[in-house]
Amino acid sequence: MGRYRDNPQAIRALVRPGSVHRDLYLDPELFELELERLWRNTWVYIGHDSQVPNAGDYYTTQIGREPVIMLRGADGLVRVLPNRCAHKGSKLISSVHGRCAGGALRCPYHGWTYRLDGTLRTVPLKSGYEGTGFETSEASRGLPPLACESYRGFVFARAATEGPGFEEYFGDSLSSIDNMVERSPAGRLEVAGGVLRYLHDCNWKMFVENLNDAMHPMVAHESSAGTAKRLWSQNATSAPPPMVIEQFVPFVNDYDFFEKMGVKVYENGHSYTGVNFSIHSKYSSVGEYERLMTEAYGEEQAQRILGEARHNTVYYPSLTIKGAIQSIRVARPLAVDKTLIESWTFRLVGAPEELLSRTTTYTRLINSPTSVVGHDDLHCYRSIQEGLASASNDWVSLYRNYSPVEEAGVAGTYGATNEVPMRGQYRAWAHYMTLGMGGG
Ligand code: FES
Ligand SMILES: [Fe+2]
Repeated sequence: MGRYRDNPQAIRALVRPGSVHRDLYLDPELFELELERLWRNTWVYIGHDSQVPNAGDYYTTQIGREPVIMLRGADGLVRVLPNRCAHKGSKLISSVHGRCAGGALRCPYHGWTYRLDGTLRTVPLKSGYEGTGFETSEASRGLPPLACESYRGFVFARAATEGPGFEEYFGDSLSSIDNMVERSPAGRLEVAGGVLRYLHDCNWKMFVENLNDAMHPMVAHESSAGTAKRLWSQNATSAPPPMVIEQFVPFVNDYDFFEKMGVKVYENGHSYTGVNFSIHSKYSSVGEYERLMTEAYGEEQAQRILGEARHNTVYYPSLTIKGAIQSIRVARPLAVDKTLIESWTFRLVGAPEELLSRTTTYTRLINSPTSVVGHDDLHCYRSIQEGLASASNDWVSLYRNYSPVEEAGVAGTYGATNEVPMRGQYRAWAHYMTLGMGGG
């Protein structure tokens, strides 16, 4: 039981036009319901298809608490299968990545085997099932694939059997993935190196909200980026700034810069900052790369692709990408106050290695557990998690630039200091938390 499970009205009442209730970040029951509903009803990022280049290659992860396998089949298709044996439920694969021996999945407990498309292949001593009704039981279906879509290599899955279609759910927000992929002269991305895992002592939504929060960098990152900017300005040399300074300094641009950067908001919680320009716009150019891009796409098209410098795009609720710097962060909710953030870096196939070094430098500097900028954010998230224990005020304010017009829909382009991306996330939250429950 609990206060919220069977009460869609109570869940919807937690989201007001310009504020949300603190229970969203604190209540373990709501967290469980998020895993059961929001994370199952929506399209969640699983991995990139370059992690499973050959038939039989797999990568394992979770949607909420549900273990899943991203697996390339003998037909070349990437599927997402439950990592749960159809017999008694053992996980089929314990390692994070690898290749299925003999072109099949074999359960480590009683040895049932499955084809790479998830269908049941063999059961030891099969005669024991004759005449038992087994053929019509759940187990005989094997591992039913989840609804899955590989969009330009980015693999998403929806755990619920019913729900919004992929294109319907993401709409034009997919243009951020397009731009990231088109930045490769070959039109392809590859995961480069391993993953950086960074445990955050906070609710997952604080991280996702922060990605398009343009009111915090000049305050929260003053101690890190501000220090770098000051130190560099004291440097007497007229030499061009090193890459780390190019990446640090724009974080402490003023309010006007962040406002004018612009934010584009879509329905279902998705949005991106950097409609007009972003903190990535002024990186020094790599001549050889621009030549390769022009060769691949023609002058006009290459300029259009490189002229887009989107900052963070949020694919609600799980994936955030920085197309202009080729890195992504994936949110994995572990508990109401624990979130694992995975940082992945990508190689632009066909581009000079200098581009990858720009990506890895950025990731180390800004996103990794040893970064300085990421710590500023984490400090703020922890402070919110602790501050919200105060019963002095139940509501978290998201009123900045609110307009009642939003009640009909949030999609549109706004000044980036507007808190509309967060309001959009909570509209989506209330919708997918109560999907199909009526009374809306
Ligand atoms: S649990 Fe997998 S074969 Fe028995
Ligand atoms: Fe930040």
